[in-house]
Amino acid sequence: MIIAIDGPAASGKGTLARRIAAHFGMAWLDTGLLYRAVARDVLSAGRDLEDVQAAIAAAKSVNAETLNDPGLRGPRVGDAASIIAKIPEVRAALLEYQRVFARQDNGAVLDGRDIGTVVCPDAHVKIFVTASDEARAKRRFLEHQSRGESVTYDDLLVDIRRRDARDSSRSAAPMFAAGDALHLDTTSLDADQAFAAALQLIDGARKTR
Ligand code: DC
Repeated sequence: MIIAIDGPAASGKGTLARRIAAHFGMAWLDTGLLYRAVARDVLSAGRDLEDVQAAIAAAKSVNAETLNDPGLRGPRVGDAASIIAKIPEVRAALLEYQRVFARQDNGAVLDGRDIGTVVCPDAHVKIFVTASDEARAKRRFLEHQSRGESVTYDDLLVDIRRRDARDSSRSAAPMFAAGDALHLDTTSLDADQAFAAALQLIDGARKTR
């Protein structure tokens, strides 16, 4: 079984995907980390984010071992990832990695922006997770605060809105809900409630297949 979880920045899709994968004993891939790793490698090589050739080379050499880097989680890398994610050749270079990952014997959960539309259009269950801009900025703020990082709520709100606009307006695999995706709005749900709601959606979808 493949479960595709898409949605905008800080919608809670990563936490949900991780819990769903653990619940069903499936593998989990946070595909945002792939784009973040490409952005990190371009920046650490001293290249410009608009340097298409540098980004393509970095995308072709992405490997699983470098995805555990805690430095990938920061807002600067997230914004940079959103910029390089516009490049069609970068997306193409990362596509096979994601599709190979999805073909696991015990099934896989992948979360990102284009899993239900491009990476795994035949996924058994597709969930599109949303939450209000303000709720998402607040969650990100609390995450950063708990790690002792100094960021402001207002900056995070601006960052989230800019990223959503860029991710949904690009021409290569823009973020949008697949026609057969189930929608989950987590604005007023805590992590446990969102997880319970997602399990219900998954159970319902599996019964109707
Ligand atoms: O999910 P995230 O915040 O870690 O993703 C960082 C950026 O990577 C996001 O703003 C756009 C890009 N991305 C993408 O284009 N497609 C995906 N499947 C996952 C992430």
